[in-house]
Amino acid sequence: MRYPVYQPDLSGNEKAYVLDCLETSWISSRGAYVSRFEESFAAFIGAREATSVANGTVAIHLALVACDIEPGDEIIVPTLTYVASVNTIVQAGAVPIFCESRLADWQIDVADAEKRITPRTRAIMAVHLYGQACPMVDLQALCRKYNLLLIEDCAEAFGTRFYGQHVGTFGDAATFSFFGNKTLTTGEGGMVVCKDAKAMQRARHLKSQGVSLVREYWHDTLAYNYRMTNIQAAIGLAQLERAEDILRRKRALAGFYREALQGLPLVLQTEMEETIHSWWMVSALVDNPTHRDPLRASLKEAGIETRPLFYPVHTMPMYQHLTDTIFPNATSLAARGFNLPSYPALTRQDVRVIADVIREFFTKI
Ligand SMILES: Cc1ncc(COP(=O)(O)O)c(C=O)c1O
Repeated sequence: MRYPVYQPDLSGNEKAYVLDCLETSWISSRGAYVSRFEESFAAFIGAREATSVANGTVAIHLALVACDIEPGDEIIVPTLTYVASVNTIVQAGAVPIFCESRLADWQIDVADAEKRITPRTRAIMAVHLYGQACPMVDLQALCRKYNLLLIEDCAEAFGTRFYGQHVGTFGDAATFSFFGNKTLTTGEGGMVVCKDAKAMQRARHLKSQGVSLVREYWHDTLAYNYRMTNIQAAIGLAQLERAEDILRRKRALAGFYREALQGLPLVLQTEMEETIHSWWMVSALVDNPTHRDPLRASLKEAGIETRPLFYPVHTMPMYQHLTDTIFPNATSLAARGFNLPSYPALTRQDVRVIADVIREFFTKI
């Protein structure tokens, strides 16, 4: 592909720091980079502390367990999300209750979420989709009103802000992913942030086999090995050093697309007034759903990779039995949406080349 959907920018100290791990043989989950990355990450998002994990999926599972989610608890989650948001709810023994998304910014519909609250509801999971922020003030108010936990899945939202505050600092717990295509990457990796210091302590304890702090090889609870390696953390630290630059280039990229795609029968995801969108994936909706796949095929022919928006998770085989609700917004977004090449090295000229292929498609149909 001439233009893949994503390519990480590893042009800073990544190589030097990884080499340092190899030369000093600190390659496992002990080593100075782990704590340096955790501290720098927490400082960047404005959290008191953060704990690193192996990926963004186990990050969600760990956050749910650290928040004492119990078997049978219901967690409200938008159906328009990546499957890991839902799988981890089930893996924690809880029940996912699917809810609707808003058409404008594709984020959780708070009024719809409220309708789905029952006496068994324990939490709402806000997923900041594609780098836009969920309506956090409304979600906080809803959770206060019904005494629910607020969990933020920020896998796609490093650099995203709501009224200037970084996402991941609104809820009781929050998680991040550093997969290779994420705005900040460690190859595979994740982070957990909990508001409550005790929950944070539980997360640290549980991610490391529940090992006692005072007795060697004594494990006082059933737990996991969800640790990040020093090598991953070394990459993450180097990425963090250039995070502002990466984010600035991604915001510029969204501007190039907005400019180049003007007048065509498609719209980019809306950046809501109160938010700073980090544009993990610059994503668009075609007006007519029958145009989406032929347009993606034309782009592919021209060497331009795109991806469809996520399928609503409630339509997947393992979740179909849970609901017969129709979610018209999520269904329409999933049918019309696609992700464009979104990596920071793309230039205005690259975007013009991509936009020309899109323009040509629409002039031919
Ligand atoms: C919304 C969301 N949640 C969770 C994850 C899982 O993260 P990971 O792939 O690091 O396990 C992703 C990954 O793409 C995601 O997009």
